[in-house]
Amino acid sequence: MGQRVRLRVWRGSGDEGELRDYEVEAEEGEVVLDLLHRLQATHCPDLAVRWNCKAGKCGSCSAEVNGRPRLTCMTRMSLFDPEETVTVTPMRTFPVIKDLVCDVSYNYVKAREVPGFTPPAGVEPGQYRMWQRDVERSQEFRKCIECFLCQDTCHVIRDHEENKEAFSGPRFLMRVAELEMHPLDDHDGDRAEEARGEHGLGLCNITKCCTEVCPEHIRITDNALIPLKERLADRRYDPIPWLFRRRGQD
Ligand code: SF4
Ligand code: F3S
Ligand code: FES
Repeated sequence: MGQRVRLRVWRGSGDEGELRDYEVEAEEGEVVLDLLHRLQATHCPDLAVRWNCKAGKCGSCSAEVNGRPRLTCMTRMSLFDPEETVTVTPMRTFPVIKDLVCDVSYNYVKAREVPGFTPPAGVEPGQYRMWQRDVERSQEFRKCIECFLCQDTCHVIRDHEENKEAFSGPRFLMRVAELEMHPLDDHDGDRAEEARGEHGLGLCNITKCCTEVCPEHIRITDNALIPLKERLADRRYDPIPWLFRRRGQD
């Protein structure tokens, strides 16, 4: 075994809980999730931790390490000073079920509110044709592993439970952007307008915190949210549609 490290871990269920201190052995190259597993094996077999792939691909092991949203399976202990106490807490934006496991169902509710891709009528799968640049644009967004770290960090909902109804968060605004930019999407509606009206795009003030924590390095703000805002502005303030809208109101 390598050295002993100090961990401070949130223990409790629902709104009740406390930070507890542990000392645990760590080997070179280990990640935070390894130490949580060792804690389960040595100190607290009832510690609730969600994980699956241990390879940064399933998005299950999200938590906050020293207050920063991170995948625990991709956070090496060597990042921290060996003398430091490393604090692991559940994602703050979602209700705690037990210990480090949160109820992330808010995200699934929001996912269901985005109408899916609508293929063009009369075109069979296999007959779709797209420019390579359009394929590449949405591929970046499709790297999302649904870890919900961007949702966790976004201040619009992190500090304001009351915004959750109106705001779908960066992950799902990005999904709307992906579909809005898809040249073959035949959705019966204006996705940019829906982002504003139904998903709360206006509440995003481009702080870019979502982009900073994304483990897939998706440029959520620059490549999805800002273009969505620009498309919306173009549509709303383009003089021709504006005149039509005005005439409709007169
Ligand atoms: Fe996680 Fe990034 Fe997807 Fe957000 S966009 S859920 S941070 S992978
Ligand atoms: Fe939130 Fe990202 Fe906008 S953190 S405020 S969705 S840029
Ligand atoms: Fe799958 Fe960490 S366990 S992303």
